[in-house]
Amino acid sequence: MLRAREGVERVPLIPQLTAGRAGICLDLNENTAGCSPRVLAKLRSLTAADVALYPERGAVEAAVASHLGVSPENVLLTNGVDEAILLLFSCFLGPGDEALYPIPTFPMYPICALAAGARAVEVGMDRDFRFPGAQLCAALTPRTRMIAIANPNNPTGSLAPRKDLLALLEAAPQAAVLVDEAYFEFCGQTMLADLRQFPHLFVARTFSKAYGLAGLRVGCLAGAAEHMAMVRRLAPPFSINSVALACLPEALADQEHVAAGVISVKRERARLEAGFSKYGIRTWPSQGNFLLADLGKWHAEFTAEFAKDGIYVRDRGGDPACSGCVRITIGTSPEMDRFYAALPGALQRSGWHA
Ligand SMILES: Cc1ncc(COP(=O)(O)O)c(C=O)c1O
Repeated sequence: MLRAREGVERVPLIPQLTAGRAGICLDLNENTAGCSPRVLAKLRSLTAADVALYPERGAVEAAVASHLGVSPENVLLTNGVDEAILLLFSCFLGPGDEALYPIPTFPMYPICALAAGARAVEVGMDRDFRFPGAQLCAALTPRTRMIAIANPNNPTGSLAPRKDLLALLEAAPQAAVLVDEAYFEFCGQTMLADLRQFPHLFVARTFSKAYGLAGLRVGCLAGAAEHMAMVRRLAPPFSINSVALACLPEALADQEHVAAGVISVKRERARLEAGFSKYGIRTWPSQGNFLLADLGKWHAEFTAEFAKDGIYVRDRGGDPACSGCVRITIGTSPEMDRFYAALPGALQRSGWHA
């Protein structure tokens, strides 16, 4: 048997996340309300010729750059932010380097750090899940070549204060600093305007969440032109498929659809907080399209009982950085009604008590 390159065996194996979901999917922070009808109309109009040729990304990349208010040379469209993370980490990290990030957070950061042969340096948050800005600065070394901050953070929903991000950027000129704004639309805070001042800053955005296009796999990475030129060298030329490229301008054009979805998420998120607090279950203030709830030692049973009702939530309770926690994506109002109808039974069957 062949052995993988040194370090690959240390990469944690992610279980198949989308196996057998047939019901209400509140487990992967997707937009269960779906994408703009304009996207669906575009999809229906596609012909054989539209998918027969290799895709041309230039015009759509320029449109996304214009949407972000930057130049095309500052932006790379990627196969989801997942690919942006992979490219960025492969570009700046090598054996002996360190990737720094707070935990709990998005699991692609450790995976891509270890895959690059680097060391993952993790800084734990306290149980309030506040951004550990000072601890991150204290953990910097000359080998810190990559810093990743999901903002808002997944799975906690917490937001890093802008002043803490600026302090980190000032303190780490030797590192590529990724601010992963996958949930930007739900909070409105962005570091895009800081790209000019900090050439080592990179900002990632996705179309998987507020735009409802997770299945099309489109995200983007923005950064200083000279740094993006290096990342671009590693990017497979056709990693954004023609269907995604055809649909993206339609999705961008329907900002009303995005705004209405965000309003619904915020309303339902507040209702979910209230729903859990009725049972004395702790939640944390979230700036994303999801909420983290503390189910204590019942986290796995709670998740399994909900699945029996065809409602999928994400058990994060096995992660020592957020023990006992379950993450619930904010669904549509009818989906959340089904959630509340199932909640008392799932709590009771899982053995939960306050
Ligand atoms: C913080 C964060 N970054 C990136 C992603 C992945 O986004 P994409 O679907 O664009 O790959 C997610 C998905 O859950 C996420 O939570």
